[in-house]
Amino acid sequence: MKIIEAKDYDELSKIAGDIVLAQIREKHNSVLGLATGSTPIGMYEYIVEAHKKGDISFAAVTTFNLDEYVGLDGEHPNSYSTYMDTYLFDHIDIPKANMHIPNGVALDAEAECTQYEAKIVQSGDIDLQVLGIGIDGHIGFNEPFTPFTSKTHLVQLHETTREVNQRFFDSLDEVPTHAYTMGIDTIMRSKHILLLISGSSKAEIVARLLNESVTEEIPASVLKNHPHVTLVIDRDALSKTK
Ligand code: PGA
Repeated sequence: MKIIEAKDYDELSKIAGDIVLAQIREKHNSVLGLATGSTPIGMYEYIVEAHKKGDISFAAVTTFNLDEYVGLDGEHPNSYSTYMDTYLFDHIDIPKANMHIPNGVALDAEAECTQYEAKIVQSGDIDLQVLGIGIDGHIGFNEPFTPFTSKTHLVQLHETTREVNQRFFDSLDEVPTHAYTMGIDTIMRSKHILLLISGSSKAEIVARLLNESVTEEIPASVLKNHPHVTLVIDRDALSKTK
C-alpha cells in the first residue's frame, strides 16, 4: 500500500483528484468505481473544476458506484444517485448510459445484485476504484465479518453505520436499514484502488488498519493483500498511528 500523507482535507482532495484525472488521461475509456459520503466531495469538486476549465472529458468513461440504499429511488434526495448527480454527473460530459448505480427500488433484489456484478465483469472490471472507510472499518457497505469472497449483495446496515449516516437525514428512522453494495471480491478485482481517509474520527480505525494484520473484522484490512492501493490520508486521520 502506497501511503501519501496530505496536510489537510483540501490537499487530500487535490491529490486524489489528480490521480483520477491522470487515470482518465492515460485511458480515456477508463472504468471508474465511485464512492459517496463526505470524504470524496472535495475530490469531486476538484474534478468538476478541471472539466469546466476544459482540461478533461468524461465522454468515454464508465462508472460504477459502490453502493445504494434499498428503498430509495434514484430521485430521492438522500439516494446515492442524487448525491452523484449533485457532486459530479450534472457537471461533466459523461453519457447517462455509462453511469451505473444499483437500483434501490429493484423488485428482485437477487437479480439486481447478479446483474450489477455481471455488468462490472462485462466492462472488464474497474480500472480505478475510489474508496472511503467507515469507523468500523467497512468499505462500501461491507460491514465487519463480510466474507472476502463476497460479490455485489444486499446487506443489513449496522446500527453504528445508520447512526453515522443519520446526519444526511431528518431522523434515524428515515435512514434505510438495508443497502446494495459491491462485495469485497468485486472491489479487490479493481486494478488500482484509491483509498481516501480524512479527519480525526477515523484516527482509531486507521491505527488498527495500519498496525493489525488482515482480518475480516476490519474489512478494509483486505486491501493490504491488493498489489496496487494508494492511500491518501490527512494528518488528522493519522494522529493515532505510531
Ligand atoms: P464518509 O464515509 O466519507 O462519509 O466518512 C465513508 C464510509 O462510510 O465509507
